[in-house]
Amino acid sequence: MSDQTVKFVLGEKDIPTHWVNLMADLPGDAPPPLHPGTKQPVGPDDLTPLFPMALIGQEVSAEPQIEIPEPVREAYRLYRPSPLFRAHRLEKVLDTPAHIYYKYEGGSPAGSHKPNTAIAQAFYNKQEGTKRIATETGAGQWGSALAFAGALFDLEVKVYMVRASYDQKPYRRILMETYGASVVPSPSPTTNYGRAVLAKHPDSPGSLGMAISEAVEDAATRDDTKYSLGSVLNHVLIHQSVVGLEAIQQMAMAGEEPDMIIACAGGGSNFAGLVFPFLGQTFRGGRKYQVIAVEPEAAPSLTRGVYAFDYGDTGKMAPIVKMFTLGSDFIPEPIHAGGLRYHGMSPMVSLLKDHGDIEARAVHQGKAFAAGVAFARAEGILPAPESSHAIRVAMDEAIAAKATGEKKVILFNLSGHGHFDLAAYQKFLDGSLEDYEYVPDEAALAALPKVG
Ligand SMILES: Cc1ncc(COP(=O)(O)O)c(C=O)c1O
Repeated sequence: MSDQTVKFVLGEKDIPTHWVNLMADLPGDAPPPLHPGTKQPVGPDDLTPLFPMALIGQEVSAEPQIEIPEPVREAYRLYRPSPLFRAHRLEKVLDTPAHIYYKYEGGSPAGSHKPNTAIAQAFYNKQEGTKRIATETGAGQWGSALAFAGALFDLEVKVYMVRASYDQKPYRRILMETYGASVVPSPSPTTNYGRAVLAKHPDSPGSLGMAISEAVEDAATRDDTKYSLGSVLNHVLIHQSVVGLEAIQQMAMAGEEPDMIIACAGGGSNFAGLVFPFLGQTFRGGRKYQVIAVEPEAAPSLTRGVYAFDYGDTGKMAPIVKMFTLGSDFIPEPIHAGGLRYHGMSPMVSLLKDHGDIEARAVHQGKAFAAGVAFARAEGILPAPESSHAIRVAMDEAIAAKATGEKKVILFNLSGHGHFDLAAYQKFLDGSLEDYEYVPDEAALAALPKVG
């Protein structure tokens, strides 16, 4: 391949046939999830009201590879393989000796990496007779992905959309409704949990933790409904591994190996999707990579949180998991990267951070938007505000490489496009976008569950 190649493109036959499960190669044992009531390890019986058996099996699987069902691969063909780009123009603008590559997941129908798991989850639910799925969405990317997957597999989808995003991004709601989903702002008056929050805080901006509680309550109280989560859980991370598996093939086409792999992290799924297949190679004796998870300063679980057992949701209905957390009652400020407004982090990503296999950095939204705008002007793609957090660190590293003269190879995940985030871009462009400092919520940290 010439050094001037911009896109590294695979054919449909190159879509992976198996997902990778890093659980098999982890450097330590992942502590089991606990029941929020009994605080004992959850068994399949605790999870069957919420998930189909195939996904429960994947959640606890130690198999290094899991076959991708043919109907899922067939649906992946609508947008996979996704392209890998070399950011020649951005490199020129930064005048850096670094080589910058990005895996672009924004070309999926819903606009992000989220359909990689939404399609798989819809497939397994359909196969096991589910009629209706309830879920939460922050930025609206996950809700759009599940609404799209629901349309593919003829499932009803109910989305609890975090109030702050519902107000900021009406067009995301309309996209979900176009796919056939029904959408309510969370906290909503349609669940006991939502009503209780609204009684105390009628103007609550909501949070992912609250919306998860509403969707879990919805699924747990209806026989025809299961719950679906767009991040955090092991099975979600497994499905996202198609991103990194393709990127490994594409970096080989480019004739380079990344020195540094970067992705933003809300619950950890696009980060894990890109990074875990590379880390799997490392753990099996391959070369080491510098791996960086980028989170918002307003919800800095990996950089400022504690590594402890905590509830996955604010209503304390979802399983308790060991993770980096700011406390499940912590409500992040309404930053525009709605998909990064989560109090915790995936248990597997947390374990790798605790072991020192990955690093984490926190970025203010203003600096992330500045990077997003610079990226759009150089490369043309308008990034999602979440993805711009990764771009910020990739650009900072490329600028640092200029200072040291190192020819670093940097790979990052461009997890989605920002076409529904124009109101936020407008605020950035007119100078009215605010940064928020993280103030630890001592009460939220004191309310961590006591486990044996
Ligand atoms: C475009 C985009 N990137 C990243 C994220 C963060 O989620 P995760 O950490 O699971 O990848 C989201 C979540 O909604 C998103 O929409």
